[in-house]
Amino acid sequence: MVDWKDPPTLFIPGPVKVLPEVLEQLSRPTLGHRGKEYSQLHGETVSMLKKILSTEQSVFLSTSSASGVWEGSIRNCVKMDETVLCTMCGAFSDKFASVARACGRTAEELKVEWGQAITADMIDKKLASGNYAALTIVYNETSTGLTNPVYEISEMVKAKYPDVLVFVDAVSGMVGLPLHFDELGWDVVFASVQKAFAIPPGLAVFAVSDRAMEKSKTVPDRGYYFDFQQFAKSAEKNQTPTTPVIPHIMALHYQCTRLLEEGMENVWARHKKMAEYVKTWAKENFALFAPEEYASNTLTAVKNTRGINVGKVISAIQEKHNTVFGNGYGKLKEETFRIAHMGDISLDDLKELLGWIDDEIK
Ligand SMILES: Cc1ncc(COP(=O)(O)O)c(C=O)c1O
Repeated sequence: MVDWKDPPTLFIPGPVKVLPEVLEQLSRPTLGHRGKEYSQLHGETVSMLKKILSTEQSVFLSTSSASGVWEGSIRNCVKMDETVLCTMCGAFSDKFASVARACGRTAEELKVEWGQAITADMIDKKLASGNYAALTIVYNETSTGLTNPVYEISEMVKAKYPDVLVFVDAVSGMVGLPLHFDELGWDVVFASVQKAFAIPPGLAVFAVSDRAMEKSKTVPDRGYYFDFQQFAKSAEKNQTPTTPVIPHIMALHYQCTRLLEEGMENVWARHKKMAEYVKTWAKENFALFAPEEYASNTLTAVKNTRGINVGKVISAIQEKHNTVFGNGYGKLKEETFRIAHMGDISLDDLKELLGWIDDEIK
């Protein structure tokens, strides 16, 4: 039987630890989703998200995990006869290409080894052919603990290929890493709330540029659940097209309030500080899996240079301390392990966890 009373503390790269006061938001009395109280909750939440994402364009709430918006970005903004360039550097960026194909679009690959970054130069060389309507990028590749240089990439794309739409998966980047949607010139960005928003899973946040909204009007067969035009229509009333996951939106409202009180610059600095601590530990004891200049500030993928039995260490720490961290993703299962440092995880939490890992590996 699952022990509901004492679940483990999570240092996996999502879902992450959720504070009791955030959980309390999930148990507030519900609202009718077409009533004025909900509209107020929705409107305030979206206004705060616009500040968090530095955008004056559209921000929507989707009752789904982020994968739904992978599909939404493709189905709304890429026509059947257009080609999308999918940058691939790990499990999640690889999946973005699979989603484009599952939606019947032609996806061309720009692929590097897992653990390497996608650079502006690589993209420039591909886009120069003029063959592409859109580009997909994962901001923070959760499988390899790597942050792609999206600011440099975006500068290059804006300057040289202004007609190419840019879709960014910021699932494990949003909130933890700088993100200025309008300045970056992105067309769609999305994240699920179980990462740096530090809310249980079940809700995704996404922003869409005005030009992507315009384009979507011209794309037939956009589907139903993720039709951007329906989101926009409902947004006029501060509502969602279908019944939303209202408890999560209450929790999101609460978390956005806290984030803005702290200030986004401070939030990003806090993530950087936690990351520096974990990266230093990783380098002293093992090695970083990603090249240091690209190593993520929201999670660290540690290269298992000592050949420890990752599964065994995770189990031992769960048994002794009721705490879990992440093994390597997919083919990196034993080659790496991953420690999340995002959301409401604190530096003290991390010090305690790393101490326990030290005890197991010495
Ligand atoms: C970078 C990235 N993209 C997409 C996803 C899929 O998100 P979800 O499971 O919330 O749909 C994940 C999940 O961990 C992720 O890390």
